[in-house]
Amino acid sequence: MTEPQIVKAHDLTFQLMMSEEKVLARVEEMGKELKEKYQDKNPIFLGVLNGAFIFMADLARAFEEQCEVSFIKLSSYSGLESRGEVATVIGLTTDVEDRHVIVVEDIIDTGKTMHDFLPILRKMNPASVAFATFLLKPDAIKYEFPIDYIGFEIPNKFVIGYGLDYNEAARNLRGIYQLK
Ligand code: IMP
Ligand code: MG
Repeated sequence: MTEPQIVKAHDLTFQLMMSEEKVLARVEEMGKELKEKYQDKNPIFLGVLNGAFIFMADLARAFEEQCEVSFIKLSSYSGLESRGEVATVIGLTTDVEDRHVIVVEDIIDTGKTMHDFLPILRKMNPASVAFATFLLKPDAIKYEFPIDYIGFEIPNKFVIGYGLDYNEAARNLRGIYQLK
C-alpha cells in the first residue's frame, strides 16, 4: 500500500518521513529483540495512551511469546508544545509487583513524561522496568533516564502518524509524517 506523500491535519501540512513498510519492519525487529530477553518472563507491556496504541498492537504481536498488555494515560502535550506538567488521566490497574514491566511509548521528546512516571512505577515494586519507545528525539531530551529499546532516532521536528497526533488528529496515518 502506498501512502500519500503530503497530508493535512487541522491547519498544518505534513510530509512523509517514514513509510508504513519501514515502520513495520523496525517494529518486527524490536519484537524479536524483546523476545530474546523476555520469552520466559511473561512480561507486562504497559502502553502510554493515546499515542502508543498502534505501536503496542504491533509490538506485542511481534513479541509472539506469552505476555500481558495494559495501558495508562498520562498527558503533557497540547498542540505542538509540551505543557511541561504531567497529569495522570487513567492510572495503573494491573498489579505489577514482582513482574517484568516494559513501558511502551510512541515517542520520547523531552523525556519528562517518563521521568516523572518512573518513580511512581518503581514504588509498585516491579521485578524490572524497561522502556521501549518507537521514536526518540535525541536533541530534545532534557530529562535523562535509561531507554532500552528505540525504534528510530529522529530530528527535533513535530511528527504525526502511527499513533502520534496533532491535537488528536492523524493518529491513524500508516506512516510517520513531519511538519512541513
Ligand atoms: P515528553 O514528556 O516531552 O517526552 O513528551 C512525550 C509525549 O509528548 C509523547 O508521548 C507524545 O504524546 C507527545 N509528543 C512529543 N513529541 C511529539 C511529536 O512530535 N508529535 C506528536 N506528539 C508528540
Ligand atoms: Mg504519548
